[in-house]
Amino acid sequence: AKDLAPMKNVQLIELGRYRMRPWYFSPYPEQLCKLECIYLCEFCLKYAASRFSLGRHLSKCTLKHPPGQEIYRKDSISFFEIDGRKSKVYARNLSLLAKLFLDHKMLDFDTDPFLFYIMTEFDERGFHIVGYFSKEKFSLADFNLACLLTLPPYQRKGYGKLLIEFSYALCKSEGRTGTPEKPLSDLGLLSYRSYWAQTILELIISESKNLNYGRPSLNINDISERTAIKEEDVIYTLTNLDLLTYYKGQHIICINKQIIEQHCANLKQRQLRIDYASLRWTPKD
Ligand code: COA
Ligand code: NA
Repeated sequence: AKDLAPMKNVQLIELGRYRMRPWYFSPYPEQLCKLECIYLCEFCLKYAASRFSLGRHLSKCTLKHPPGQEIYRKDSISFFEIDGRKSKVYARNLSLLAKLFLDHKMLDFDTDPFLFYIMTEFDERGFHIVGYFSKEKFSLADFNLACLLTLPPYQRKGYGKLLIEFSYALCKSEGRTGTPEKPLSDLGLLSYRSYWAQTILELIISESKNLNYGRPSLNINDISERTAIKEEDVIYTLTNLDLLTYYKGQHIICINKQIIEQHCANLKQRQLRIDYASLRWTPKD
């Protein structure tokens, strides 16, 4: 038999002011899956069987943000860091929610080994979850991201790349390079390809003010160190962009006018960026 994913089991969820149709199976309690809709507390992510029982919960739930430490704030965007061992219930509820939009096998329900970085948008009612990524506390393979999610109402607005940019910002603070855990989903790969291309081109172009569309002064290793993007991903990206040739045992980067113009046009679309000065975080060791 084929390795089939379980059938989609949840009809609808309500989270804050949004209703969402799930994409995939998630192991919510079977009793709840029979209902038309599962109601979630948008701050602690606890699930309820009706709006009435959610209301009862909300009258007691004092959280107005994810239950961790706020480590970044710029304008209305914040990031909260959550330890999967210390905040087991939240991490479990977050994983249940995320699994609705993640294909099978892409999510580990043992949350102890992970940190979770929740991105929120602030308004007068609180800090509303937009998306998150998880990260292994210790990774021998330089993984700096395990799971990545932008909730559907927020997708295709640049938040995915903001989450990715943040994951590399943490790496830069740690003074190391990182790479996402494989396999990536189709949408995950699209997002990474776009982030990698823009980040690498941005660096090459800014470092090559007098460049006459020829060879930049940076090599692969420089790019990797400056961006925290692991070397293999730099090579993958430059190859995809057709900017790399292999000559006498060496990689040679060659950029042209067309690629620069395309890049500048793309960057104009990218409004959301991480402000490094707004990060309040030091690596633990
Ligand atoms: N179709 C085509 N392109 C898409 C797309 C879609 N449905 N969704 C995103 N993209 C492209 C965007 O065009 C953008 O590229 P561009 O800026 O060069 O045009 C890039 O992917 C990133 O878009 P962005 O808006 O920053 O991402 P997002 O907030 O929509 O989030 C994911 C991207 C992957 C986090 C989101 O799709 C998601 O949560 N998917 C479900 C979970 C998942 O697959 N996670 C990854 C597991 S490895
Ligand atoms: Na919300």
